Amino acid sequence: MSPQSAPWTKSSWQQHPVLQQPNWPDKAALNQVLGDLSNRPPLVFAGEIRALKDLLAKASQGEAFLIQGGDCSEDFSQVTAPKIRETLKVLLQMAVVLTYAGGKPVVKLGRIAGQFAKPRSADTEMVNGVELPSYRGDMVNSAEPIAAARIPDPNRIREGYYMAASTLNLLRAFTRGGFASLQRVHAWNQEFVAQSPMGRSYDRVAKQLSQAMQFMETIGIPTDIPQIRQAQFFTSHEALLLGYEEAMTREDSTGGGWYDCSAHMLWIGERTRQIDGAHVEFLRGVNNPIGVKIGPDYDLENVKQLIETLNPENEAGRLTLITRLGMKNIEKVLPPLLREAKREGYNIVWSCDPMHANTYTAPSGLKSRSFNDILSEITCFFETHWSEGTIPGGIHLEMTGENVTECTGGARNIIDEDLANNYLTTCDPRLNAEQSLEVAFQIAEMIRS
Ligand code: PEP
Ligand code: CO
Repeated sequence: MSPQSAPWTKSSWQQHPVLQQPNWPDKAALNQVLGDLSNRPPLVFAGEIRALKDLLAKASQGEAFLIQGGDCSEDFSQVTAPKIRETLKVLLQMAVVLTYAGGKPVVKLGRIAGQFAKPRSADTEMVNGVELPSYRGDMVNSAEPIAAARIPDPNRIREGYYMAASTLNLLRAFTRGGFASLQRVHAWNQEFVAQSPMGRSYDRVAKQLSQAMQFMETIGIPTDIPQIRQAQFFTSHEALLLGYEEAMTREDSTGGGWYDCSAHMLWIGERTRQIDGAHVEFLRGVNNPIGVKIGPDYDLENVKQLIETLNPENEAGRLTLITRLGMKNIEKVLPPLLREAKREGYNIVWSCDPMHANTYTAPSGLKSRSFNDILSEITCFFETHWSEGTIPGGIHLEMTGENVTECTGGARNIIDEDLANNYLTTCDPRLNAEQSLEVAFQIAEMIRS
């Protein structure tokens, strides 16, 4: 019997090899935190999770487009109203550009309210010439470069739960309470973006949208309706710390079935997608929409097994494959994957992560990504899908609403020497607000033509 034909429970992952888990020094303390969290309120509700799945089903058919974005690694110290608001603003701006200029409804999915755990390629890392245990995300240890701060502390899981809850609370307030109303579309342009070429392009879109709404009002079509006054916004993170994900998993009291209520969507990272591994075992049994990252060295048979294990009913909206192939490889390695998936008739949301295989180390030692490389991978992603007759359904970005200097290039042409000016990420380099908006305009251009 293959491991996955044994019955699933929310704990069955524990019978499988599990990678990328912290070495918790005090197991009793860990179990106490997890036991406690398993009695706390869920962060999201099964009905919302199903609503997202329906929207993703549309994205898999080309009737909607997914924007998934946010920090590589959320930082507890940055769980503040301004930081959350600025990230939300850029995602809303990108969505407006793609909806209005690109002509597609947009599914807005944050890498937010729970993106606190990171897989690492090595157990130790060099910081300022000193070897330290790797930082594994704020839910595990602290990024502070001293050995004591790097010891995994289960209290951080508890703190992560409350940080996610307060983030989600503000997001719900913003998106339901008028902040995200399309009548405020002008107010989402950040001050530091407004005077830039991207800010001006955005202003033009916002103006047209305002005029369209004014026209509707003039002829008596009400604009005070939820479709205009509210935004639908969803959350996601990498399902990495399986003890936490298990603690947040609940049986739906209305429709039945198990849901991981830590976020609406969860994904499996490139490092933990082993077919017999614990992460695949855990996620196969929850009803959330799930994602799987696919890197350039994928094995086609292995990807097919993943698809059939994670989505045996071929349900549309259930599975998003997030390809992160690198601008140098994508042209060669994406077509065989698309051809086989098409031949098999798999229902998949194809999403492009143009970040994770385009990272380089600048001479200063800072990790960066070039805006042109990112754009090249995105362009090739669209062109390859179109030539193979498959559907480019979404984009997965590491981005922030702040004016950071982490990725080079873009309209302001950030160069390697500028990176240190405002390099704030605790993990991978993110697009800043202006660069993110530029990506949205480029995609709008492509999907319109
Ligand atoms: C990430 O999304 O931050 C990440 C670690 O990606 P991947 O698993 O694709 O390397
Ligand atoms: Co990352």
